[in-house]
Amino acid sequence: MKSVPRGFFITGTDTGVGKTLVAAALTRAFVARGLRCAVMKPVAAGGSRTPAGFRNDDALELLAASNVQAPYEHVNPWLLAMPASPHLAARMDGVTIGIPRILAARDRLAAAADVLIVEGAGGWEAPISATGTMADIAASLELPVVLVVGLRLGCLNHALLTREAIRARGLPFTGWIANKLDREMPLLRENIQTLTTRFGADPLAVVPVDPTDSAWAVAGAGNLLSH
Ligand SMILES: Nc1ncnc2c1ncn2[C@@H]1O[C@H](COP(=O)(O)OP(=O)(O)OP(=O)(O)O)[C@@H](O)[C@H]1O
Ligand SMILES: [Mg+2]
Repeated sequence: MKSVPRGFFITGTDTGVGKTLVAAALTRAFVARGLRCAVMKPVAAGGSRTPAGFRNDDALELLAASNVQAPYEHVNPWLLAMPASPHLAARMDGVTIGIPRILAARDRLAAAADVLIVEGAGGWEAPISATGTMADIAASLELPVVLVVGLRLGCLNHALLTREAIRARGLPFTGWIANKLDREMPLLRENIQTLTTRFGADPLAVVPVDPTDSAWAVAGAGNLLSH
């Protein structure tokens, strides 16, 4: 029987809240535990020209952390030229983002992995087409969701709304990760406590400002596996 890898869909309270930083660090922590950890950025908007072709930075960062060799196209099946909302970037490219290509890539990666880490684009309901959003991709992948909360003013509202939207989709919510994105944020501890109370769960990990060690990611990876 084919073994199915554990997998997690990493979403965030917004764009730029630390999804890639967290996803790459968790990947390195899984690799350090001796697991084969594959990575995916199913939809990416924006990139740069490299000798190997047009590439997205998030996908490359995830790939660099992974120990599962894979063609770029499996890690990032949809790469759009313009750094904009995926549905608009896709329109500019004259393409329609389809989920079957993502599922086919996932199957190829999953065959060689113990754990699969998938990073969303933008936030939970970031549009990917005229009617679809990133949430449709998470639902199609049938993965439990991890929410990265970028701790800055407004994040409580974003975090609670996102939690509700994940619940409405009926997807398992593995937990949340508190990312100390803004070193100036007043009442950081109180904000983390507020979400701990409202989510009814401690964060899986707390990412320090400018993380220099991996202790938080090692702890986070352990917590993910024990779920
Ligand atoms: N804890 C932190 N301390 C300092 N800088 C951080 C921290 N977390 C994230 N950053 C920085 O914030 C920026 C955004 O982080 P990151 O790229 O991981 O966000 P993202 O959610 O993946 O964004 P996108 O929506 O573009 O994929 C990066 O420059 C990253 O290095
Ligand atoms: Mg990212």
